[in-house]
Amino acid sequence: MVPFDYYPRTRIVFGPGKVEELGQLAGELGARRVLVVSDPGVIAAGHTARGITSLEAAGIETQLFDGLVENPTTDNVDAGTALARRFEPELIVGFGGGSSMDCAKGINFLFTGGGRMQDYRGTGKATRPMLPMIAVPTTAGTGSETQSFALISDAETHVKMACGDKKATFRVALLDPMLTVTQPQRVTALTGIDAIAHALETYVCRVRNPASLAFSREAWLLLADNFQHVLDDPTDLEARGGMQLGACFAGLAIENSMLGAAHALANPLTTNYGIPHGHAVGLALPHVIRFNGGEVGRWYFDLLECTAGSNGYPSPETGADGLADFVANLVRRAGLADRLSACGVERGRLEDLAAEAAKQWTGGFNPRKVGPAELLSLYEAAF
Ligand SMILES: [Fe+2]
Repeated sequence: MVPFDYYPRTRIVFGPGKVEELGQLAGELGARRVLVVSDPGVIAAGHTARGITSLEAAGIETQLFDGLVENPTTDNVDAGTALARRFEPELIVGFGGGSSMDCAKGINFLFTGGGRMQDYRGTGKATRPMLPMIAVPTTAGTGSETQSFALISDAETHVKMACGDKKATFRVALLDPMLTVTQPQRVTALTGIDAIAHALETYVCRVRNPASLAFSREAWLLLADNFQHVLDDPTDLEARGGMQLGACFAGLAIENSMLGAAHALANPLTTNYGIPHGHAVGLALPHVIRFNGGEVGRWYFDLLECTAGSNGYPSPETGADGLADFVANLVRRAGLADRLSACGVERGRLEDLAAEAAKQWTGGFNPRKVGPAELLSLYEAAF
């Protein structure tokens, strides 16, 4: 029996056009002054303005912060915090992809608790109450909207820091699939693969439990099918909604369990070669599934039973190998290279990368033990 503590912290409001309710939801949380954290791409698409209009229609004063980049840095968080100190918000909205949501969390840490972002690395470092926050995701991927972690890169060392605290969880995740329709195809591909990896890694991780499994399983059902639909027809709102919910549930699965070796292998590829996170995870995941199959093949069989008979899914009997082939095929369908050698990675550096991957804490949750030797053979298999 696996002990767990499932505490729902995030209200999930889902549906087309729901962004119009942002003002009402912020008002319900008692806010009169709201800092909106959003990135320039999402602002240019006109989405952020719709949220701000809704806030202002509810009589709420707003301040926009747009000084953030993909994979937000400590400099971005510092700039947002300086703006927050002048404006004194009562609530923060993270409006955009994972970068906007993580930056909003980072600003909240520093605005309410002071110090530097580095002080919050790890878990449970916030000692003071934090401002309530609302997430409005415009991609279907990271699941940051239902997680208590902010990923912030150290501007000097470029190390990605995971800063987590239950107080940094969004109070509301406002999921409007209409906001995800305008994503560039490449963003759809990268974030979709990442979300699928979240569902599959949480499903077999060492700390999986009945609560996390419920979210992993539903996320898998929603993502695997709808991913193919959104690649074929980006305007398919039903499929976009499925992706958005799937990514959100996968985020809840992470929040209630952990990830595994594919994420451990992915991080050094991003740091050293700039391979986007979703792509890096997609390069590693099929090989990790095959490797894990030696130990937890039964679990993959169980997962495939949920989709048995559905169009295009591997049969349960094919187990880890069938699932790995299916995922590799999704990566190719998404238009992403499926070998490390095609992404500029040098064979001579695999050993160093494996040593780096071994230091990633997510690897410790992989169902089959992974040290530098196992991670090296996984890189070699993916080369
Ligand atoms: Fe991820």
